[in-house]
Parts: sequence; C-alpha cells; structure tokens
Amino acid sequence: MPPVQLRAPAKLNLYLRIVGRRPDGYHELETVFERIDLADELTFEPWPDSTVTLTTDHPTLSVGPDNLILKAAKLLQQTAGVSTGAAIRLTKRIPVAGGLGGGSSDAATTLLGLNDLWGLSWSRARLKPLAAQLGSDVPFFLEEAAVAVGRGRGERCEPLRGVPTLWHVLVALPTALSTKDIFDDWDCAQAGAALTVPEGSLKILAHALSNGSLSELAQGLVNDLTPVAIRRCPLIATILSRLHEAGCPVVLMSGSGPTVFGLCRDESHARTIADSLRAKGSPTWTIHVVRTERCGGE
Ligand code: C5P
Repeated sequence: MPPVQLRAPAKLNLYLRIVGRRPDGYHELETVFERIDLADELTFEPWPDSTVTLTTDHPTLSVGPDNLILKAAKLLQQTAGVSTGAAIRLTKRIPVAGGLGGGSSDAATTLLGLNDLWGLSWSRARLKPLAAQLGSDVPFFLEEAAVAVGRGRGERCEPLRGVPTLWHVLVALPTALSTKDIFDDWDCAQAGAALTVPEGSLKILAHALSNGSLSELAQGLVNDLTPVAIRRCPLIATILSRLHEAGCPVVLMSGSGPTVFGLCRDESHARTIADSLRAKGSPTWTIHVVRTERCGGE
C-alpha cells in the first residue's frame, strides 16, 4: 500500500458569538468557519502491527498520546476494529494554539487519511461523530465546504455556499493561548450576566459574505472572545490597530486567538498590506497572505 499524503488546512472564524452556556460546561456558539490555504501536511504509511507512531518537524509539539492526531488514530482503530497500525508524519506550518484550528484539522485529516490507508471506505457522515468526540472544531474539517456555519459547541456545521474567494493578511504571534483559559476568562468577565446577541446578526453577515462587500462585512464580523484574549495578550489590540492603519477595512481575531487577520479587496491589496507590516512590525510576528481554500466539487 503506497503512503497516503494529505493537506490539513487551517480555518479562520469570520464570526464567533456565544449565545448560551451549557450544562456540560461548554458554550453554545454561532460561528462562521472559513477554510484557508495555510496548511499542515500529513503522510500515512502502513505499519505491520497495531502500533501507531507520530513524528514531526516541529521542535516542541508533543508526539505523545495527548496529541490529537494519535487520539484520532486510536479512536478510529478501536471503533472500526482495525488490527493494522500506521506511521504518521506531520509537517507543521499552522501556528500551534493560535486560534487557527491546526490541531483540529490534523485530527480530521487523520480520520480521512487512515480511512483511506486502512481501506475502510467510511463516509464522511460516518466519521463525523468521531470527529465531534475529538473536539468542537474537528467536524468542520470534514465538511466539503470552504465556508460553514457552526452551531452547538461549533460541531454542528452547515455549509454556506456562494461565498466568493476572500483574501486576508494574517498575523500570527509567538504566544500560545489555551482555548479553555479564554472561555473560562469569558465566564469570569460575564459573571452570570444575561447574554444579549442581536437577532439576525448571523443573517446579516451571511448576506454580506455572499456579496463579498467589505463595507457590509465591516458591520457584521465579530468575535466575542476578543476582549478576554486581549487581557491575556495585549499585543492582539496593537496588531488589530496596525492592520487597520495599514489599510485593512475589516480586522478580526480568529477563534480564541491570538492570531489576527484583516480582510482585503484582492491579492495585490493583501500583498501591499503584508509588505508594509513586515517593514514596520516586529520580526517575531509571522505574516501570511492567505485566501479561501475551495474543496473538491465546490
Ligand atoms: O472542544 P475542544 O476540546 O476543542 O474545546 C477546548 C475547550 O474550550 C473546552 O474544554 C472548553 O473549555 C472550551 N470550549 C467551550 N465551548 C465551546 C468550545 C470549547 O467552552 N463551544
């Protein structure tokens, strides 16, 4: 069996509102995910016994049983009753704990890669419950859609069709933020206050996305976790303003941060802004020009 090689793309959250608290400790979300063309790479090779191994070029990432790739592999192996193993190699390009869903995408891609390597022929729908068990963002990466609305913990996804390709400048920082810490901080900041999410705001955003109109999008993009993430990492606020000053009409933090991005009119606008930030910003910022990544059949 030849090795299976797959890309594991990152996501941005174009919209993230907390609409409720749940008895299981999670938060009820309304979010919009966008798949982008910044991606890790995973290679899966057969292994004669049931062992699953993981190696990576990343200097500090754990390759132990806490890594979501190994959790995904074990979960599929046990659920499908597979007796063969795999050697998995990860080339890491997505910043770790940056709000870009890198670990979640790697986990979803592991389900897809091993489904293929082990000849299971499971449908994506059959893999989805496993994905949801692994993490709230994992099911999105099984959707055959570049943009999707996520509800529940974020795991109930519905594709949003007809969104034109978007161009972004993305600024990643050398700081890792834990999603759990950021949600916990949000709880403390709210201190049991009633949640007020304006009716129809997701509809307004979906409309703006289908137009691709930056001025409309400026009104619609929001991330409820930004203020608490800024308290832990004040540089987020600085970069949001720098992106704005550099000419991005719409700027936002992704997920639980700290990665920040700006929406641009087109590729050349994005490249001009990225060059200006590289010239004036700190060498510790990693600046990428990225765009929406389409899926096969879209
Ligand atoms: O689902 P996942 O393991 O990615 O979530 C990491 C942490 O983020 C959870 O333990 C929880 O504290 C928080 N979270 C949340 N509500 C969500 C998603 C995540 O409180 N909808």
